[in-house]
This record gives sequence, C-alpha cells and structure tokens, in this order.
Amino acid sequence: MTRQKKPWGGRFSEPTDQRVEEFTSSLHFDKRLYPYDIEGSIAHCRMLAAQGIISPSDAEKIISGLQDILKSMEDGEFSYYSDLEDIHMAIEKSLIDRIGEVGGKLHTARSRNDQISLDMRLYLRDEVKNILDLLAGLQASLVNVAKREIDTILPGYTHLQKAQPVLLAHYLLAYWEMLDRDVNRLKECRERVNVMPLGSAALAGTGFPINREYVAELLGFPEISRNSMDAVSDRDFVAEFIFDTSLLMMHMSRFCEDLVIWSGGEFGFVDISDAFTTGSSIMPQKKNPDVAELIRGKTGRVYGDLMAILTLMKGLPMTYNRDLQEDKEPLFDAIDTVTTCLAVLSDMTGNLKFNRYRMLESAAGGFSTATDVADYLVMKGIPFREAHGIVGRLVGYCIEKQKDMQSLNIEEIRLFWKGADDDIYTCMSVDSSISARNIVGGTARESVLRRIKEIEFNKPA
Ligand code: ARG
Repeated sequence: MTRQKKPWGGRFSEPTDQRVEEFTSSLHFDKRLYPYDIEGSIAHCRMLAAQGIISPSDAEKIISGLQDILKSMEDGEFSYYSDLEDIHMAIEKSLIDRIGEVGGKLHTARSRNDQISLDMRLYLRDEVKNILDLLAGLQASLVNVAKREIDTILPGYTHLQKAQPVLLAHYLLAYWEMLDRDVNRLKECRERVNVMPLGSAALAGTGFPINREYVAELLGFPEISRNSMDAVSDRDFVAEFIFDTSLLMMHMSRFCEDLVIWSGGEFGFVDISDAFTTGSSIMPQKKNPDVAELIRGKTGRVYGDLMAILTLMKGLPMTYNRDLQEDKEPLFDAIDTVTTCLAVLSDMTGNLKFNRYRMLESAAGGFSTATDVADYLVMKGIPFREAHGIVGRLVGYCIEKQKDMQSLNIEEIRLFWKGADDDIYTCMSVDSSISARNIVGGTARESVLRRIKEIEFNKPA
C-alpha cells in the first residue's frame, strides 16, 4: 500500500516511523464515528459558505464529495489507508483525492481537537437514545411479568436468609424503579452531551467570522460550548455516561445474580428458558444460566471502562493531549456491552417461568410471618420490644419442637403470651402478611397494582 503524505507534513523532513504510525493510529476503532464526522463536516461547510468564508460552489463540491464518501463507507467500499492517523484524516484525504485541492478548504476554522469533541457528542447522543429505548424495553418486560405473576408469592430475603413474604411482582417492580433512575440519569447526562463545541478550534477559538449558533442549529444542538479550552480538553461527559452505565450494569447484575441462585436446584424458583441457557460439555444433565452469569461478569468490564476514563483524565495538563484519543475504546466498549446486555436481558426476562408452588411453600416456611405475629401483639396493646421478645421465644420453642408456628395449639402459644386466642392464627398466614402491607411502597396486591397503574399511566405513548 502506498504511504500517504501527512496532511500535517509541512514542517517534517523525514517520514514517520512505521511503528509510530501504527502506535498512534486510532483509525481501526474510531472508524465507527464516520457518519458523525461527515455530518459535522457538512454542517461546518454550510456555515463557512453562509458566512462567505468559502464560496458556495466550493461548498457544493465539498458537500457532494462528503456525501460520496458516506455512501462508499456505508456500502463497505471505502478503502482505509492504514497509515492515516484517524477517521478525520481518512475522510479529508479521500475528499481531496476525489474533488482535488478544494477539499483542503473544509478544515478552515476548525481543528481536529474540536472536531473529535463534536463527533463524540453526536455519536453519544444517538447511543444514549438507543440505550433509553432498550431500557424502556426491559422495563416493559418487568411490568408484563409483574402483571402476569400478580398473585405469585416470593420469600423475601435479607442477608440471603428468609425474611418476609412478598409478591413476586413487588420484587420485579423494585428493578423497574432502579432502572427508572437509570433512565433519568441518562437523560440528564444527555443534556451535558448535547453541547456544540465546534468553533473552539485547537484550543483558543478561531479568528474567522464563523457562526457557531448556525452550526448548532444545523446539527440540532440546543447549546454551544462557552469556553474553547474547556471544550477541547474535557471528557467529563464520557466519564459521566460510563458511570451511569456502570450503575445500570450493576442493577442488571444483581437481578441476574438472583436468577442464577433461584434457578439452582436448591431454590428451584425459576426456570430460565432453553433459549437463554447453555449445556455442559461433560455433564449431560446440566442447564446453566450462562447469560445471567455473563451479564454479571460483563459488569466488571464496564467498571473497568469507568476507571480507564477517570484515570486517563486525572493528570492531563490543559488543554488537548493525545492521551484523549484513549477515551474512545472504553466508551465504545461500555456502549457495546450495555446495549447487548439490555437486549438479551429483556428477552430472557419475558421468558422466565416461575415455580409458583415452590416459592409459596418456601415463603410460608422459616417463620417468615413472625413479624406479623409481633405486630398482632402490638395491636393488642403490647409494646413492640416486648412483643418481639415473646415471638422470639415462641420461635425458639418451635425450633426445639421442630414445629412451625401454625401447628402449635393455643395452649402452647399461651405458654408465651397468656392473652392468646384463636384469631392469632390468622396473622400467621402468608396472605394476611402480604395484604396487611397496603401502604404506598408496600407489597400488598392493591398497593402493587396501584403502582402498575401509575407506571402505565405515565408511560410515554
Ligand atoms: N484522533 C484524535 C483523537 O481521537 C483526534 C484529535 C487529534 N488532535 C491532535 N492534535 N493530534 O483525540
């Protein structure tokens, strides 16, 4: 392959070392920015013409050249010279090859420093939209399963010890709430991404009479950056985005962790469909929850991406430094990871089959309604601390006699509280425990149904 003369080669008398060329090139990964790079260049070019900085006929040639390049890239026919530094250089070089010297006018009043900031912002803006759509899909899956399983009871855990019965729907909607905060965080992040940096040039702005607002309008940015040095040097919007996706991954990972535990034989609460599990190469009986495990595992990758960008930024002197080229791979990796995880988890969630009987049986055991018995005593006028002690001793007795609470006779209960009569048994049932919690945020059926209504009412059309 012929080596290209560098667009910046004017002051150089020797060619770049081959290894340095490979070492400094970002083309193999920043290629993916091409549609945004071209979109940004077309807007910049229109503005240059509108301001009389280049002639309308030059602008026309440049724009149609850029459109040709876009087409050849989309058709997979574009040949990338491996010795070009990055996507900006690849496009500029190809433009000059196609339309001649006039192509060199495109870079007037612009630097790659503001150009790359623009490309990243245009790209990320689209990706945030895509992630928000996928998040809406996962949330919808959770709500659908919650509605389908509105009568399914789940033992709720703290410390992974059986604690109190809850509705499975309540559990599922807990994830809906977490994801909803992820949605809001990403929307806020998008506001900070959605700022137009072009015009900052290398670092100091440009002396050409450009019109930044016009470029912003052409590209649909509600705001332009207010400081050229800030605009070319900061990548806080990248760090913020990866932090938001880290939290989102953490939420998905915790849900997956429960699915891994619940699908195991000891729990047997859920069956993950065959389409989302894999077998073992040696043990014929196995059906493994690999998808859930991989989502859990990939969470670590995204945390790594966050550490990479934070560490990348911490020691950079103002303003642009080539280190910043290293912002792309962590960002792309976080985006690729979170989008595939969201898509696969939505589908897997919709296909989960819960073993209702097994969950109910488990929810009823382990003295899961002991708190309800204590609450019952409180209603009878006993201070809560004392009630807690009475029920604690009652549980101790049950464990010793290997009985559950419901199977004690009233005389046995009276050993611990003299005032007991038959209505004490009603508060021991799982159903009464759940339906008692009819407050905002509680697990009663009515309360959960109210929340589902609210969610569906607020859902954007
Ligand atoms: N490929 C570079 C990056 O991603 C583009 C900006 C290059 N600017 C420069 N002054 N070398 O950061």
